[in-house]
Amino acid sequence: MTNADFERIVDTTDDWIVSRTGIRERRIADNGTSTSDMAVAACQEALKMSGCSHEEIDLLILGTVTPDYRLPSCACVVQEKMGLPNAAAFDVVSACTGFINGLSIANSYIASGHAKKALIVGVEKLSAIVNYKDRNTCVLFGDGAGAAVVAGDDSGRGVLSTFMRSDGKMREMLWIKAGGTTHQYSAEHAASGADKVLMNGSEIFKVAVKEMANAVWHVMEDAGIDQSQVSLVVPHQANIRIIEALARRLKVDKDKVYINISKYGNTSAASVPIALDEAYREGRIKEGDHIVMVAFGGGLIWGSALVKW
Ligand code: COA
Repeated sequence: MTNADFERIVDTTDDWIVSRTGIRERRIADNGTSTSDMAVAACQEALKMSGCSHEEIDLLILGTVTPDYRLPSCACVVQEKMGLPNAAAFDVVSACTGFINGLSIANSYIASGHAKKALIVGVEKLSAIVNYKDRNTCVLFGDGAGAAVVAGDDSGRGVLSTFMRSDGKMREMLWIKAGGTTHQYSAEHAASGADKVLMNGSEIFKVAVKEMANAVWHVMEDAGIDQSQVSLVVPHQANIRIIEALARRLKVDKDKVYINISKYGNTSAASVPIALDEAYREGRIKEGDHIVMVAFGGGLIWGSALVKW
């Protein structure tokens, strides 16, 4: 869906969207495509790249806020569709930080010997929960999926440090008010848009820049890596101005920060793994590189991971 498509449905312009967000297009899944379908496509590709068999995966962690069903977890649907007979499968509901929190959990399971090979997928069908009458939010979001396989070895490469934080006091800055047990679904809620994404964008903006920078510094310090040793920062893609402000705060050159928001918009939990994959395929990540991933989103939740590729 292009900005021109949005000009036809809400009071907006391509110029406003590009200058305020950096977004030009986003991918929207059709009605017949579920969140698990997108997750399976990404997971199959990740398994193929890793050379792992389906049987070897003993942990499947799926980050999403748009599962196929309220019950069971989307991870269980993906496990069945993929055929992962030996995997413990569960969802993490960490919004845009879903992939990084999944990576952090997988790393802990592997380091403690409770798992050997984990498949982590960040996936969202945000088009199902976005209000296409609200210009403040609808232009920002897209659908997508990205996945990675993580396995333990003693090469010294891999996840060096992860960091996760949350602050539930700020939960109403980005939320879906109705449809859960506090405000059960009603026709009135649906008519008012309370069953779709509601957001205070400008407040989130400020917290996002500050806390993502703190999260990056935290993992670098924890791993004993200084900024000059970091090859690439792969941030959550919510707004080009957030990413640029983050780069300025970190004092990192923009060419060391991966940006693909113009093509996808904000895909929440899928954003970091999609960016990671594209950066890798473009040759911007090489063996031995130190890569920092960082994300921020509804909860509020933020987190980071420092990886030696
Ligand atoms: N087209 C045209 N005008 C729009 C618009 C759109 N799609 N969306 C909002 N506006 C208007 C607003 O109504 C407001 O008008 P007003 O001044 O007459 O009231 C004006 O633009 C400025 O709004 P403001 O919210 O101050 O803009 P902003 O510069 O903060 O940009 C966001 C808005 C949402 C793009 C920005 O705040 C943002 O990206 N925040 C972070 C969001 C985010 O990351 N959320 C997910 C967390 S992972």
